[in-house]
Amino acid sequence: MSGSRAGFLEKARTKRVTVAVIGLGYVGLPLAVEFARAGVRVLGIDVDGKRVQAINRGESHIPDVPSRDLAPLVQAGRLSASTVYPDCAQADAMVICVPTPFTRMKAPDLSYIEAACRSLAPHVVRGALVVLQSTTYPGTTEELVRPILEAGGRRAGRDFLLAFSPERIDPGNKQFGAHNTPKVVGGIDAASGEAACALFALLVPPEQIHRVSGPKVAEMCKLLENIFRSVNIALVNELTKLCERMGIDIWEVIDAASTKPFGFMPFYPGPGVGGHCIPVDPYYLSWKAREYDFYTKFIELAAEVNSSMPFFTVNRIAEALNRRGKPLLGARILVLGAAFKRDIDDPRNAPALEVMKVLRARGAEVGYHDPHVAEVSLEAPHDTGASPAPHLRSVPLTEHTVASQDCVCLAVAHSVFDIPWLLKHSRLLMDATGVTRRFPQGHGTVIRL
Ligand SMILES: NC(=O)c1ccc[n+]([C@@H]2O[C@H](COP(=O)([O-])OP(=O)(O)OC[C@H]3O[C@@H](n4cnc5c(N)ncnc54)[C@H](O)[C@@H]3O)[C@@H](O)[C@H]2O)c1
Repeated sequence: MSGSRAGFLEKARTKRVTVAVIGLGYVGLPLAVEFARAGVRVLGIDVDGKRVQAINRGESHIPDVPSRDLAPLVQAGRLSASTVYPDCAQADAMVICVPTPFTRMKAPDLSYIEAACRSLAPHVVRGALVVLQSTTYPGTTEELVRPILEAGGRRAGRDFLLAFSPERIDPGNKQFGAHNTPKVVGGIDAASGEAACALFALLVPPEQIHRVSGPKVAEMCKLLENIFRSVNIALVNELTKLCERMGIDIWEVIDAASTKPFGFMPFYPGPGVGGHCIPVDPYYLSWKAREYDFYTKFIELAAEVNSSMPFFTVNRIAEALNRRGKPLLGARILVLGAAFKRDIDDPRNAPALEVMKVLRARGAEVGYHDPHVAEVSLEAPHDTGASPAPHLRSVPLTEHTVASQDCVCLAVAHSVFDIPWLLKHSRLLMDATGVTRRFPQGHGTVIRL
């Protein structure tokens, strides 16, 4: 294998590697584009035929990858997509970026990784490198991926190279992308680690590649990063509830604490945490920890506090309406923002959806507007699937729509929202984002978390 390892390193150095990216979603497509831009040939694999066809026409479904960036790479033959795996036999490196959601019982759902590895296994050629990039619990690369790839008789370390490298992409982040975010890499052995470093050196400068002793450390590193955020957000959310009871403005407190130049970094309250990562990944670790008779109390506590925030937000709205002699039952409420965070189009696990569900469950008439999310499905947490989940479509944001609401709930501060205009036209504005504190108040009432 040492000959083929040297071959891989030389090919990577001279950009003669072909890279297969498995799963062309929020993570995989930007990665495929970055590799193609770096000058290597990229083959994208996805089970979604429509997605694959669109990519082959040069049309992107990911806002962070404009079609004007994708199309020239497709036209130049540097990037192509397919729904089938056999072409992976031409690839020197394969990076797996498929989803890792959880089940209804909040257990890891590794079925996508398993399916991708089963399809990939027959096409991993001698000396090729496989890198798992999906977020998962420590042990997945060695305990799950490795045996599936070895099922045909090939041996990791002897016949092919295997590593884990976490994805750190932050959708919508204009400052940090794949080209300037340091990579953490952990191979199952020295050769795998070295090859994975050489692969990612195509994207980031070598000094921004941090090699660790093995896949488990790299897998745990990603979970630490996300749990760090989850726990700190939960801390500030809990203090927000206390401050509300004590009549203290949490936003003013955070601004004040942020003046400390060391030992403090600000986290902000919100109507909950959303997305595919922070509300999901910590559960992967809690689940795995139980195998070791270990109970991850911080993770559970953070999830408990964060998942209470949509209810807290709705209670604040209900109290404010009550003060105006208006019950929540039958109140017209417009939620602004349905994505899980600012300036993105992804509504997965968005707190705004939870807020809408709770409002509807308590009898409010709920509409929403989000320029980036045309429609949403409001599946109830304990939905049996017997009846279809209610669908809502984004309503136009007009002066009449805003002025006719009993309350407008600003759940996501998309930068296109005209805050002074909203303040001017809303009778009652619940600002769950803190953004209104930078503007003079309009004629209506503003409440903040
Ligand atoms: N989205 C983020 O911001 C982010 C950030 C860091 C890490 N991650 C992690 O990256 C992984 C991927 O997340 P994502 O947001 O890109 O998911 P996604 O749902 O946007 O994309 C996944 C893609 O994989 C495809 N796919 C599913 N099964 C497949 C298979 N067997 N073979 C080939 N393709 C298959 C799907 O069709 C989809 O296009 C997850 O583990 C996630 O936790 C995501």
